[in-house]
Formats: sequence, structure tokens, C-alpha cells
Amino acid sequence: MSQTPSTARVTAHHHKGSVLRLTQSVGSTTVHGISDTIIRVRVSSRSESGEVPSYAIEGPVPSRALAVSRSAEFIDAQTDACGVRIGTDELSLSFTDGNGALLSAGLPIHFGADTLSDTRVPQPDEDFFGLGERITPLGRRGYTVVNWNTDNPHYQHEQRRSMYSSFPFYVALDRSTGRCYGYFHDSPWKSSFDMCDTLPDRVQIEAWGGELNIYFFSAPTLAGILRDYTMLTGRHAMAPVWALGYHQCRWSYMSTADARQIVQEFRARKIPLDALWFDIDYMDSFRVFTFDATRFGDMRECCRDLDDAGVRRVAIIDPGVKVDPAGVYDVHDEGCAKGYFAKDAQGNDYVGKVWPGGTKFPDFSRPDVRAWWGQLHKRYYDMGIDAFWNDMNEPADMAPPGDKTVPLDVRMDDGGRHTTMEKLHNVYALFEAMATVQDGMLALRPDARPFLLTRAASAGMQKYSAKWGGDNVSSWGHLEASIPQLLNMGLSGLGFFGADVGGFGANAQPELLARWTQLGTFYPFFRNHCSTGQIHQEPWSFGPEIERACREAIELRYHLLPYFYQLFREMHTSGAPMVRPLFWHFQHDARTYGLVDQFMLGADIVVAPVTRRGAESRAVYLPEGTWYHYLTGRKFAGGCEYVVSAPLNSIPVFVRAGSVTPVMPVVASTRYIDRSVLTLEVFPGEGDFSAQLYEDDTESNAYQRGEFCFNTVTYSHGRLHVALDKASGVRTVVVRVFGDGASWREQRFEDVREVSVGV
Ligand code: GLC
Repeated sequence: MSQTPSTARVTAHHHKGSVLRLTQSVGSTTVHGISDTIIRVRVSSRSESGEVPSYAIEGPVPSRALAVSRSAEFIDAQTDACGVRIGTDELSLSFTDGNGALLSAGLPIHFGADTLSDTRVPQPDEDFFGLGERITPLGRRGYTVVNWNTDNPHYQHEQRRSMYSSFPFYVALDRSTGRCYGYFHDSPWKSSFDMCDTLPDRVQIEAWGGELNIYFFSAPTLAGILRDYTMLTGRHAMAPVWALGYHQCRWSYMSTADARQIVQEFRARKIPLDALWFDIDYMDSFRVFTFDATRFGDMRECCRDLDDAGVRRVAIIDPGVKVDPAGVYDVHDEGCAKGYFAKDAQGNDYVGKVWPGGTKFPDFSRPDVRAWWGQLHKRYYDMGIDAFWNDMNEPADMAPPGDKTVPLDVRMDDGGRHTTMEKLHNVYALFEAMATVQDGMLALRPDARPFLLTRAASAGMQKYSAKWGGDNVSSWGHLEASIPQLLNMGLSGLGFFGADVGGFGANAQPELLARWTQLGTFYPFFRNHCSTGQIHQEPWSFGPEIERACREAIELRYHLLPYFYQLFREMHTSGAPMVRPLFWHFQHDARTYGLVDQFMLGADIVVAPVTRRGAESRAVYLPEGTWYHYLTGRKFAGGCEYVVSAPLNSIPVFVRAGSVTPVMPVVASTRYIDRSVLTLEVFPGEGDFSAQLYEDDTESNAYQRGEFCFNTVTYSHGRLHVALDKASGVRTVVVRVFGDGASWREQRFEDVREVSVGV
């Protein structure tokens, strides 16, 4: 029986150092000072509540003293640059900056039968970003996001509320003032973020599980908010550089012969390729950790041959373990014997249904299960597989009706706390990723950088994995939708993201594949993938004209790879996504706010992909500054919109005048990069430019022991200065200066440690 929701009156408060505790007529509240710009407010439906574990935040959380004052109606708590004003008659939370200026006003919190609801009053010009991969134009205003990981194939339309992942974190940005803030509800439980959908002037956040666990971020820039949010929830570890190259996948390449054939085509056609992916058909009847003995009987030799061609191998692993009679499948036998599978309400192993039929689900919330699962990956390493792809980890289950997920009453250990799937559903994939990366890849190969791709995710997943957007279809709508999806994922802290290039479901069309490959060039994760039963969509599948457009797009990716690598490093250290909306850098230019079909790659490149069928030109808004058209060399003054031509073999890309971009010659795969050469493209212009270009071995974890260096590049008053670090492996510096008509003036400096040149 549900009760009428009620509000809470604050009856007493107790403040000590960084913690303020409120006693209430209903439930309780604790406020924590975290840092200058972060305050945490934990509202619980229980009157006494011990600390709840966080799944998103693993490290210790810092603390900062709170200044607390009380008036007749409010209690104010604040750190230097962040404050919360707590309404005491009926508990409400309004957040301010350090000067007391209101950032976000809250109405009384409702304590319902099953949920706690925080109703907020947005500014008229405020919009919301982040909240994961759900498809909306870009801003979330007018939509609801339900944080409940859901396998929903062919999902990408605007009204879908739940997708594969759950990121209960948003950034608010006010178009009229440029003010921003961040709001994170740190909970594994289901939650719903109604961003002015039901009521146009209300944000309504509903949290299950008896807690609203809010971290409020008051930094004045998006970069500051993402820095703070990822300081808590973690950042991407450095990826091996090959993970940034071009990847080819299909459900499935059905045999080692198929795999070899595909790689030979790439090499014969001189299309760069860094990784080939193995979908579920490599397995023996979909038993994870096995290989089909006939079609993949020579897998080890195949992996060796692919490696000789500079191509890495990635294999899919689903969490479900096939149920077999005893003695048939050792993974199932061992899991049963050790009691590693999640149990139903009666205490028996729960049996669901995935690709192999009857399937059991490891209880990854147990450390011993994670250790077991991790070690099983040795079988793949021994075979020559380099990296992994975790799919169906929502967890998808075709047995129950409705939600298509493992039933909520299935028991989970939860690190000894004994809970159920109802609580751990959203973090099942996170636990699986921990098993794969920590207990598997890093335990087995401590010095190799792990690369994992996941479909399901939750806040904090970026510490372990890249993510793709699941099962889109080959349509122009989905091509276009992948841009806001990517941008919002980046603003959710997980920037290593890409959608299936060419589209997963339905048949790709020639022009679509060309345009999508051009867009994919700028996805942080760049993989062509399509479903079984669909026509092939490798780059050469539609004749020479499309092949050429795809090849040139992929070559552009390799050309820009050193720049991508720099951006990856920036994401690793600061949480800044590699691909950003324009307002990331132009927060006070309201004209950038509605731009959904163009974006920035780092601070210096604006990309305006063609997203419409038949289009040979498109409009592009260039922000303040001067911009060079990368292909034509034409200079554009920023601050206005242009219509630029974009024939099929081109993608409009603009580079900021007064910037320097590290690039490299195109290679067949990253295996063949010559790291003794540093090539810099200089785009002359007003203003000064300076960068510390990061350099490491691109593959190992030595960077975590400080084995990296920085080469200094400055550009000022028409002079470029390059100073190589003494630890740098660079011996040759190539300076290419961009001129009219996209012509390049190139100078080469051999065996140097320093270069100073007029450009
Ligand atoms: C799921 C994945 C897809 C994969 C297929 C078969 O639909 O999202 O990428 O190809 O399963 O494993």
C-alpha cells in the first residue's frame, strides 16, 4: 500500500567540521563539505543511517570544513565556492555559489512510499546535459531519463527513457547568463530525472532505494565541473594507442578464414586497420571462454597472422554462462561447484536465457567471483586475443517477460551485504568490468594497458572501459543522433565513446556508409560494426567511390592520431571529453548552445559532418576567432554562420588560426608509427599558443610510474619554438605551415633537441 508522500521538518542540527547532521520529523539529512566547489547532501528516508557504500566512487572522498549559520527559516552551509540553503519548515535544498548567488532552487523534498523526490525550479533559459547516452536533440530539457540499464535494440528515438547505461549526473547551463553547475545523484538504484518533461518549469528527480545522495558542483566552467565530477568518480586510464585507430567488426566473421580474408582486403586496398573484432560466433555454441573447434580451430595461428599484419584482436564476452550437463563445460561446472552464480529467491542458481539458451549469471559483486572470472581471460590471452568486449551486461535476459532482464529478486552478495538485483542491476556491468580489467587483464598482464568496450554502464565505468552506443540502425537519423549521444556521454564523464559506424541493424547504403565513416573519424572510439543478416559494410562494400571516401576519412583519422592522443591524455588527467560541444569553449556565446550537428575536437578543431542524405553543402557556425578550412585553406572570420561545400569525399573541418596540431604520416596500423618524428602543423594567426605535448611509450603502464615526458611547443609573433624533453625519443621535427589554398610549407629538422623557426 502506498502512503501519501510527505515532507520533513528539520527539528535540530549538529555541526562539526565538514559534517552537518539534521534531525527531522521524517528521515534524516547529512551535509558534507567536500571541496571548495563541491557539497554533498545525503537525504535518507531513515532517521539514522550509516554511510552507504558508493559504487561509482572508489577512492577516499576529500573533506572541507563547512561554515554553518541558522536563521528562522533556513540553515546555510557552505565551503568557499559552494553553498546549500536548507529550508527547515519543509526540508528543501537550494544551491548557491560562494557569494550566495542562487544556482539551483529546490522545492520541498517529498518522502514517498517507495521514492524520495527532489523538485527543482530551473531558470527559464537553463538547459541540461549529461545523463548518459539517451537520445535527445542535445539538451535534455523537455525529456525524462530513467536510470535503469535496458537492452533495447533499435532504440534510438527521442521518447525512449531508458537505455543501456545509467549516469544520474547532469550539467546545467544557462543560455542567458552562461552560468553552470553540476548535480550527481550517487546511487546504484533506479532513478528518474524528469527535466521539465511533465511540468515545463520543474525538474523532478525521483530516487528509489531510500536515499537521495546529491553531490552538487559549483565550478564556474564546464571544464571545472567535469574535473570535479571525475575527481570523484574517476577518469579513463590511458588507452593503448591502437585502441584509437580504426576497428572493423561484424556479427560475425564466422571463421578464421573470414577473419584473414577481411584483414587481407584492408591491406591490399591500403586502408588502415588496427583491430579486428570477434563477435559471438567464435565460441563453441556460445559458451564463453571457448572457441569453436572447427571454424576457429586454428585461432592461435590466425591471431599470430593478424598480429604480423599489425592488427589486434578483440573478443566479445557475455556475462551469461551456458547451462550444460555436468562434465560438458568446465566454466559452468566450476561456477556451480563453487556457488558463483546468482541465486533465485529460493536459493537455487537462477537460470535465464541468452544466446546459448539456459544461462546462469555470475555474481560479480563477490570478489572471489571476480577473481575467478578474471583468471579465465588467460585462455584468450593464450590464444592471442588482446582485448575484450562486454555485451549483454545490463544484464540482458530473454527469459522473463517485460524488462528482459534478470528478475529483481535474484540475490546478490553485494560484498557481504546480501542484497538483490533490484539494487545492483545498474552496477552489474561495472562489477563485470572490474573483474575483466582488474582481476583479468591487469592481473594477467600488469604492464599492458587494458582495453575494454562495454555496452551497459553506470557512473564510474570510465575507470575501466570505453563504451559504444549499442544497437543503432543504418539510418540518417541514427547517424545524426550519435552526435548528441557522444557529446552527452562525454559530459557524463565517459568520453571514450563511439556508435557503430555504418549502423548495426538494417542494410547500410553507400552514401550513408561514406558519411558515417567521415563522422566516425572523429568519434573517440572508431569501429564499423553491423548485425548478422545485414549486407556487408566494410569500407569497400559499395564500389570504388565509396571506398575512396572511406579510405580518406580513415586516413584523416590516422593523420590526426597524435592530436587524438594528446586529447586522450587530457581526458585522463582532467576528465575533459575529447569531443565537446562548442559551448564547452564558448560558454558565453549563446549561439553555440543549440548546435547539435557540429562539435569540437579538443580546443582547436571544429568538425561539421554531413548528416543529411544527398547534401553537398551545409551550414556551419564558427565561434569567435579566425578559422581555416582544413581542406581548402580558406580563412573564415568567426562569430557567424557560413554555408560550406561538402562533396561526398569531404568533411568540413576547421582549425583555429594561431594553433599548432601534432599529426603524423598515415600508417597501415599504429604498430608502424615512427615515434622518432614529431610533425607539427602550424596554422598562422594572431595570439599566442603554447602546449605541452605529452609523450610516452603508447602501450605499457609505465606512464603510471612517471615514465612520460612533455615536449614544449610555443607559437608567438610568427615564431614557432619547440623544445624537446631530454627523455623524449623524438629526433626529427617536421614543421608544416598552413598557407592559402591549403598549401603546406614544410621544413624538416634532423637530429635536434630544439627548433626555433619563423613561420
Ligand atoms: C548485441 C550487441 C551487438 C552484437 C550482438 C551479438 O546485439 O549489441 O553489438 O553484435 O549482440 O553479439
